[in-house]
Amino acid sequence: MAKQLISLRVNGSERDCVVEPRTRLLDALREGLGLTGAKEGCGNGECGACTVLVDGRPINSCLMLAVEAVGSEILTIEGLATRDGLHPLQEAFMEHGGLQCGICTPGMILAAKALLDENPKPSEAEIRAGLAGNLCRCTGYTKIVEAVQAAAEA
Ligand code: FES
Ligand code: FES
Repeated sequence: MAKQLISLRVNGSERDCVVEPRTRLLDALREGLGLTGAKEGCGNGECGACTVLVDGRPINSCLMLAVEAVGSEILTIEGLATRDGLHPLQEAFMEHGGLQCGICTPGMILAAKALLDENPKPSEAEIRAGLAGNLCRCTGYTKIVEAVQAAAEA
């Protein structure tokens, strides 16, 4: 299939990437740009492990074509911390034991960021609803919800 050079705006920088028309955003990020924070769990929109923010909205990058993301602002977990330190959500996940494995955590944190950007003081039910698309197959969600509540109160 014909390859093409596209430019993606990721974590505040323009990045060139060679893709096929069928290349998923997830693969462009991981294999094209070396941003391996977004993970592949299910590959079909069920688990949220591949969540990135596209123009501020949480997107399953396994379901989006890379070419569809041209012109949009993409945020991956690698872009969340700044020179000054970790993002408050990352700090809260650490402090409250919300950090779990490397498969589910990046997507959880980005989904939580999108939630708090839109609703800075969510209720517990709103947090659970906001994270409903992000699955952990191992444990419960209590500490994750507590971490998001703590970040909202920070
Ligand atoms: S890998 Fe994309 S939703 Fe599971
Ligand atoms: S899937 Fe990450 S801790 Fe369970």
